[in-house]
Amino acid sequence: MVATVRRQRPRRLACWALMTVLLADLLALSDTLAVMSVDLGSESMKVAIVKPGVPMEIVLNKESRRKTPVTVTLKENERFFGDSAASMAIKNPKATLRYFQHLLGKQENNPHVALYKARFPEHELGFDPQRQTVYFQISPQLQFSPEEVLSMLLNYSRSLAEDFAEQPIKDAVITVPAFFNQAERRAVLQAARMAGLKVLQLINDNTATALSYGVFRRKDINSTAQNIMFYDMGSGSTVCTIVTYQTVKTKDAGMQPQLQIRGVGFDRTLGGLEMELRLREHLAGLFNEQRRGQRAKDVRENPRAMAKLLREANRLKTVLSANADHVAQIEGLMDDVDFKAKVTRAEFEELCADLFERVPGPVQQALQSAEMKLDEIEQVILVGGATRVPKVQEVLLKAVGKEELGKNINADEAAAMGAVYQAAALSKAFKVKPFVVRDAVIYPILVEFTREVEEETGVRSLKHNKRILFSRMGPYPQRKVITFNRYSHDFNFHINYGDLGFLGPEDLRVFGSQNLTTVKLKGVGESFKKYPDYESKGIKAHFNLDESGVLSLDRVESVFETLVEDSPEEESTLTKLGNTISSLFGGGSTPDTKENGTDTVQEEEEGPAEGSKDEPGEQAELKEEAEAPAEDTSSPPPPEAKGASAPEGEKATEKDGGNKPEAQKPSEKGEAGSEGAPPAPEEEKKQKPARKQRMVEEIGVELVVLDLPDLPEDQLARSAQKLQDLTLRDLQKQEREKAANSLEAFIFETQDKLYQPEYQEVSTEEQREDISGKLSAASTWLEDEGFGATTAMLKEKLAELRKLCHGLFFRVEERKKWPERLSALDNLLNHSSMFLKGARLIPEMDQIFTEVEMTTLEKIINETWAWKNTTVAEQAKLPATEKPVLLSKDIEAKMAALDREVQYLLNKAKFAKPRPRPRDKNGTRAEAPLNASASDQSEKVIPPPGQTEDTKPIPEPEKEAGSEAADSEPLELGGPAAESEQKEHPEQPTGQKQTLKNDEL
Ligand SMILES: Nc1ncnc2c1ncn2[C@@H]1O[C@H](COP(=O)(O)OP(=O)(O)OP(=O)(O)O)[C@@H](O)[C@H]1O
Ligand SMILES: [Mg+2]
Repeated sequence: MVATVRRQRPRRLACWALMTVLLADLLALSDTLAVMSVDLGSESMKVAIVKPGVPMEIVLNKESRRKTPVTVTLKENERFFGDSAASMAIKNPKATLRYFQHLLGKQENNPHVALYKARFPEHELGFDPQRQTVYFQISPQLQFSPEEVLSMLLNYSRSLAEDFAEQPIKDAVITVPAFFNQAERRAVLQAARMAGLKVLQLINDNTATALSYGVFRRKDINSTAQNIMFYDMGSGSTVCTIVTYQTVKTKDAGMQPQLQIRGVGFDRTLGGLEMELRLREHLAGLFNEQRRGQRAKDVRENPRAMAKLLREANRLKTVLSANADHVAQIEGLMDDVDFKAKVTRAEFEELCADLFERVPGPVQQALQSAEMKLDEIEQVILVGGATRVPKVQEVLLKAVGKEELGKNINADEAAAMGAVYQAAALSKAFKVKPFVVRDAVIYPILVEFTREVEEETGVRSLKHNKRILFSRMGPYPQRKVITFNRYSHDFNFHINYGDLGFLGPEDLRVFGSQNLTTVKLKGVGESFKKYPDYESKGIKAHFNLDESGVLSLDRVESVFETLVEDSPEEESTLTKLGNTISSLFGGGSTPDTKENGTDTVQEEEEGPAEGSKDEPGEQAELKEEAEAPAEDTSSPPPPEAKGASAPEGEKATEKDGGNKPEAQKPSEKGEAGSEGAPPAPEEEKKQKPARKQRMVEEIGVELVVLDLPDLPEDQLARSAQKLQDLTLRDLQKQEREKAANSLEAFIFETQDKLYQPEYQEVSTEEQREDISGKLSAASTWLEDEGFGATTAMLKEKLAELRKLCHGLFFRVEERKKWPERLSALDNLLNHSSMFLKGARLIPEMDQIFTEVEMTTLEKIINETWAWKNTTVAEQAKLPATEKPVLLSKDIEAKMAALDREVQYLLNKAKFAKPRPRPRDKNGTRAEAPLNASASDQSEKVIPPPGQTEDTKPIPEPEKEAGSEAADSEPLELGGPAAESEQKEHPEQPTGQKQTLKNDEL
């Protein structure tokens, strides 16, 4: 029997599958941070976010645009991004970097590096001998690798997303072109790491687009497969993708829609940029032509003029999509000479004729890879900005033989939206409707190894072996295990790309190294020495092609097995008890029980998901086919054998010995297979069946990267620090600019104020002259020396000026506040006086306020009136140019003190309990006073003289109803009796007879 314990792996399906269309479907599970997506195009990036409570949406940049140029200007002291950088392209072409993603993951000898140099000769590219890559040499001191430039841009995209979301963001899904190989993908991941972004996934931009299309048409997806072709021509490249949509049965969520990438074709350099460059070349020729005979220099040698021409070519190209001709014009193109030339669409199409011929190429490739015919494709949908060129559509329509091309998705934003759905699903902060996404491997990956074999006796030769690890158009993410069965000593194997014959010779050169990694194993021989009595089950290498399409070698293990006899007689009592308990809980015979989560090798194939042949996450075991030793070809162990669960004790063994037994390790006393093992059926016990026990030894791995070495960790850390410093510098610069702007604004505004009547009224001419003089001096200082001034100096200067003007501003401000504050004080005094009068009118038997309380209120009212009258009078005598004695803050303080007193009394009234009425001779109770307190019940109540029945409070109903009334009703004071006695206060406005409610004060 073989005891095998499954290692618990994350459910790939779940992380790939969770998508949503509507906000209602997207339920925020917590207030965790927002997540973002970046569709990182060659020309522009489109950023989208999703945050709890807010639907997924495209981020508007600082210029309120939905697309942001992927452009950075890197000067000695400052950086610009996006639209600001794009506008710097003409002023500072050398420092303004665009299309730099085309250099990612490429070595210096790559044809794309040469192409970049030819397209953008204004940039100086340095050579990094360590990685054989290039970097931008902006100035002698300033150099940046393409990864660093991308990192800055990603950081910028995050700042746009954060500003838009109004909260910090760390998690992102980033799009990459589907044709990005391992080195290119790793370069993007490294850039993101430098920027401190957590990449939830690199998603292929075509997959993201297909996802967006699918989630918005969820209801149209059913069990019948629909094949849709997406044709994406962007700025840098073109990708054609065939996607099959249909519902499938998933393990976790029943029937759900699924998209499967079936075929992909691409052209790495076919796009809007190349068309623009053709147009630029044409315009440059026309300009030179116009200046022939003037001994003028070739415009192509002037980077600024070429940057202007490129911008105009872009505009021209766009206009020609809608018009048959257009006049290109640039003022002062070079040497102050203007340029003007009419270009027709026909001319443009002729210039790009060879490009348009390449339009059908990706379609053919996609069909071939999908093994499909055009008539199986239901619809062809346009994606990407460059598909707006009429000729592109015309050629494509012909190539696909359809009646029309689908324009029913947002050609610019679909990828960003699809990517943000994925981000929402992966972030775990949102609950989204499942949508199964099955991406496909474009470049197959295989394992190669050479071994000495003995063909005839004594004749030894080397045999080269190849095993496909990830096949072309096979699904990913996916894990694979390959088993080497014939090695008992250290050996090497190679991970290489498989057959890339579908790429043309030029594309193959651009592709770069077809060798990925050499794996050198260490410790194979030792593992054999360690288990001399065991039988080797091979060296197993575990590979993972993750959600980002990045390959990794998880681990390599040497696996051994031996037969251990189960001996019921030798079972200890304790073990028997354990087994019985285990069986009681269903342990033993069902395969599930062996999933105990211990860290052991998963060897069996996971069953494919229902509805699909090879579900992502499937693990296949590859073996050395023909050469497999006998035991490898043996039939799999019977299902009941899998029931043996790994005992708890294994963990300790693992730690102690550094190895991983997968079945119970036999004890020295021969108690093997006892603890934790299921009780065998009676007949099995009698037969004393042998169990196989498995030992797993981790093998040391040395990886020699052959395609493009990653940035070493220390360099990565240095780059991250360098970029952080630049960000800090930018922030400091922004702060300095803010300080300079504030100072400038203060000077300007104050100079203006000095002429306004309200300021003139409270200042002498002398005072104004003094301030004005100092403001002028500060202005001169700012102009002359402000440029070199630090943030602190600028702030200090502003503080000085504020201090100088403080008195003047204060006088103006106070005057502005007086009317409103004084009126509020008057109101409060009037209301308080009325309240006091009302309180005094309450009959003694019902009185709830003490004499002291009422006297205190009276005193404070009188003092406040007196203070107000005196201060206002004093202020009236004072010249307006002097510091006022009537201060708004004093008025507020007086109001607060008075208000506090009144509120106290009101509260007391509100919560007072009615007093009980004294009983009359007949034994009936007199009416209960309103608000009388319980403690007063024993007091003798004498009605105040002159009180009539009418003025008495509402009689208390029989049992305590009075207290309820007091609680629920707002207390009213100053009834008819109070009104009749009310006298106007000397300063009180007449006619203010009011019934006060406690919420009015
Ligand atoms: N109306 C139009 N006519 C012609 N071209 C257009 C039009 N609108 C946009 N474009 C072109 O589309 C391209 C940009 O498309 P898109 O935003 O899809 O590219 P990208 O995603 O930045 O690049 P890529 O996907 O190739 O990396 C540019 O070359 C732009 O000039
Ligand atoms: Mg794009």
